Amino acid sequence: MELGLIGYPIQHSKSPWIHQQFLKQTGLSGEYILYEIHPDQFADEIKQLKQLSLHGFNVTVPYKQKIIPYLDEIDDHAQTIGAVNTVVCRDGKWHGYNTDGLGLVTALKIRYPHLFDGDKSALILGAGGASRGIYYALIKEKLKRVSIANRTRSKAESIVNIDSERSKGDVYTYQEAERHLASFDLIIHTTSVGMYPNDGDKIIDLTHLQPDTVVSDIVYQPFWTALLREAYQKGANVHHGHEMLLYQGKLAFEYWTNQKISANEILPEFLTILQSENYKG
Ligand code: ATR
Repeated sequence: MELGLIGYPIQHSKSPWIHQQFLKQTGLSGEYILYEIHPDQFADEIKQLKQLSLHGFNVTVPYKQKIIPYLDEIDDHAQTIGAVNTVVCRDGKWHGYNTDGLGLVTALKIRYPHLFDGDKSALILGAGGASRGIYYALIKEKLKRVSIANRTRSKAESIVNIDSERSKGDVYTYQEAERHLASFDLIIHTTSVGMYPNDGDKIIDLTHLQPDTVVSDIVYQPFWTALLREAYQKGANVHHGHEMLLYQGKLAFEYWTNQKISANEILPEFLTILQSENYKG
């Protein structure tokens, strides 16, 4: 399998390690190469990439939207989100998918299956690209409510309005969300607030957080964000950001190879690697 990643900058990406483990699991031979593309050279480099005999590649920041005009097909979910993180190359044609949101939902379902029994409510913090993917993955699940809070309220409203038939939740400012915190079983933080080197930053006040709420943060550097640390101290169940990274990779790998693989199997080793590099606990 000839696989890879495009983005900028990507030298510190964990995806090569993840996909090498998946290749080992399946017994397939192959490689996962980093194609770091400078924004000034995007169009030229993509043309060159088309000449290679790749089976597929991942797309990360800042190209998840920019790649779309170069695709031959895009699936409905990725189209709705307006972003692609996985490209499958089939007979010289590029097919775009987005596994980010579903990656997080898959990881949450394995760890906290009770969240998806039909009477639970979720709150998403943030309304950027990551939030869109997670929102569209979540509204397809058995949840009573999926609400969004954002600094700029109109951006949260625009996410909810794209599929107003399926949407089932409120739009909040962060102050409103803080007051309603106790009514949610799952809280997912999707912005970059609290990401290294701004480790101390936290998106909302957790005064009203109830014990046993699941708090998920897609930031994985540091492993313990200020949000997760405080949530843990308040008795919440915390879900760290590296699981989304791992599971979006698992779903991408399954698109490329049509083989089922286990992300859970490599989770402990992945955790050890991340903690040895950036453990701030
Ligand atoms: P991504 O595609 O990575 O999600 P994005 O589209 O730029 O990034 O979205 C960034 C998200 O982080 C938005 O929800 C943004 O809030 P606004 O919509 O109000 O801009 C949020 N965000 C970024 N910096 C923030 C900050 N300092 N405080 C609060 N929210 C912030």
